[in-house]
Amino acid sequence: MQKSELKTPYFMINEAKLIENLEQAKKLKEISGAKLVLALKCFSTWGVFNIIKPYLDGTTSSGPYEVKLGYETFGGETHAYSVGYSEDDVREVADICDKLIFNSHSQLSAHRHIVEDKTSIGLRLNPGVSYAGQDLANPARQFSRLGVQFDHIDPAVFESIDGVMFHMNCENKDVDAFIRLLDSVSETFGQYLDKLSWISLGGGVFFTWPGYDIEKLGLALKAFAHKHGVQVYLEPGEAIITNTTDLVVTVVDIVENGMRTAIVDSATEAHRLDTLIYNEPASIRESSKQGHYEYVIGSCSCLAGDQFCVANFEQPLEIGQQLHILDSAGYTMVKLNWFNGLRMPSVYCERSNGELHKLNEFNYSDFKRSLSQWSVE
Ligand SMILES: Cc1ncc(COP(=O)(O)O)c(C=O)c1O
Repeated sequence: MQKSELKTPYFMINEAKLIENLEQAKKLKEISGAKLVLALKCFSTWGVFNIIKPYLDGTTSSGPYEVKLGYETFGGETHAYSVGYSEDDVREVADICDKLIFNSHSQLSAHRHIVEDKTSIGLRLNPGVSYAGQDLANPARQFSRLGVQFDHIDPAVFESIDGVMFHMNCENKDVDAFIRLLDSVSETFGQYLDKLSWISLGGGVFFTWPGYDIEKLGLALKAFAHKHGVQVYLEPGEAIITNTTDLVVTVVDIVENGMRTAIVDSATEAHRLDTLIYNEPASIRESSKQGHYEYVIGSCSCLAGDQFCVANFEQPLEIGQQLHILDSAGYTMVKLNWFNGLRMPSVYCERSNGELHKLNEFNYSDFKRSLSQWSVE
């Protein structure tokens, strides 16, 4: 299989780049003694888990099917967490998870009897402080429903749980900012933390960002673990998968309406949703800041404002030309949807030896099946 033979749109996961990130994760683990579980909410393309497994300790989840997927396809430690579990959910995950983290006192009291003898029980706490660029993704935002806030803690709970989870970072590339948060958690919640055997510090720590001081992070985590006598966990998603994957698309039309717009065979609303949700323009490998030819890279969905970015190129774009939309793994494949009945991108992995491996492809029957299985008479 050659790249030139592949039909766009498709995702191409690059194994060598993935391993570069995983080597950083390994270094962090070695320095800190922390365990790292992959956040499946960010990336759950299990076809490449054989590459990731040797480096990480397991998976964590946000809903019952992710728990099952982590258990079946990754192994190691399976952490289960959800903002809101039904009793059926808890029964479904109880036998397959190693840790079950409840989001509130009420969820804990309602469901703990189901899991008590089966798994280690935790509670999510809301530290009231955070590092997040956008309010939408800020776990400590006003009236946040994510975890128990300090003032609402029932201290008795620490006699009957094993651990807690704090998630307070979003794409935090600043190790000092992380350490300030860690100190704040330690100071505010320290009396409770000393009673536990494990603490998860969630995700959002961008330790694979170029120049990130992994040693400083590792030593801070080690000191925190030692101070409170706990096993520390991190739940990285984006840090593991960042910069490993291109979404490859083809220009299908070029229109001029005040601005030149290249329309490609993909859409942010269907295939790269966070571009739209967080209003964060994508980057295109073929573009050049100095280029004289400016284009809107427009989606082929019907949504008027659906575009990947505005980018400059050295040469005019041509219909039929392929473009690589960079860094398209985290929170993309997990959010794919069939809006407009567009062709769903296939998924490939480029192995370190150059071979291409197909992980997924979709067709019309997948689209149809996603909409109804049975018709009324
Ligand atoms: C509880 C929890 N853990 C882990 C993560 C993963 O975060 P990231 O992909 O930014 O590392 C998230 C992201 O929202 C989260 O909510």
